[in-house]
Amino acid sequence: MKTLRHVAALRTEVAAWRKAGQSVAVVPTMGALHDGHLSLVRAAQSATDRVIVTIFVNPAQFNDPEDLKKYPRHEARDAALLRAAGVDCLFAPDAQEIYPPAFATSVSVARLSEGYCGSTRPGHFDGVVTVVTKLLLICGAHKAYFGEKDWQQLQIVRRLVADLNIPVAIAGCPTLRAADGLAMSSRNARLTDAARAVAPALYRALCAARDAVGRGEAVAVVLGSARRAICEAGFASIDYLDLCDAETLTQLDTRPKRPARLLAAAWLGEVRLIDNIAVTG
Ligand code: PAF
Repeated sequence: MKTLRHVAALRTEVAAWRKAGQSVAVVPTMGALHDGHLSLVRAAQSATDRVIVTIFVNPAQFNDPEDLKKYPRHEARDAALLRAAGVDCLFAPDAQEIYPPAFATSVSVARLSEGYCGSTRPGHFDGVVTVVTKLLLICGAHKAYFGEKDWQQLQIVRRLVADLNIPVAIAGCPTLRAADGLAMSSRNARLTDAARAVAPALYRALCAARDAVGRGEAVAVVLGSARRAICEAGFASIDYLDLCDAETLTQLDTRPKRPARLLAAAWLGEVRLIDNIAVTG
């Protein structure tokens, strides 16, 4: 596995692959890799000849400087995992390479970025969309892989690529979960043992809410019970727990007629966890 830190070097590598007729995938990450990321790598490897993984802890998507400071960074360990997984190239630029001093551009996806994590983390999605645009243009891959755990992010990236005619196919991959249901996330490493024991309550509440909506129970009542269950389990607060259209993210207050999603973000001590689950009408 090659580790590249500069845009020009990566472009040269990808151009050679493409010239040889090979298909290329990219898996954008912020590092602190876990099995969820590796499942994206495996999906990419099964579909394309070459796989690039990017690791870049993107300062532009952190609205809280403390959160950026605390974000786990383990590049050597991540590189070892990727090498063992058979990844072709790790692209790990530094902040100067992505945001040189004169950098002045921001890319924004209206509407989809506005609710949920967009309301509670102002500026977050503009940071995500700007860096994803850059990474997609830098890598020039045929396919890009994102996890469904960040459901809102996935819908935003799909909109971005369609709106700007970026020539890449976006693949969304199912959330990987621990045996007790907790969605895999780099942030889980920051949970204390006690918080880790409480954390699966988020997924349990989403499953119970999905089943209740499926039985035809009133959406407002179902959401109220789910929020109560999460707080009673030991979460400190809930940023949001809503039912929405799976694609447009429009909030729903009645039983869905199209594919829908329950989205949630909640605080467990100092760690903010997000999760989501499919709901069928
Ligand atoms: O999902 C993430 O890890 C990040 O938001 C992404 C897509 C790598 C952009 O920094």
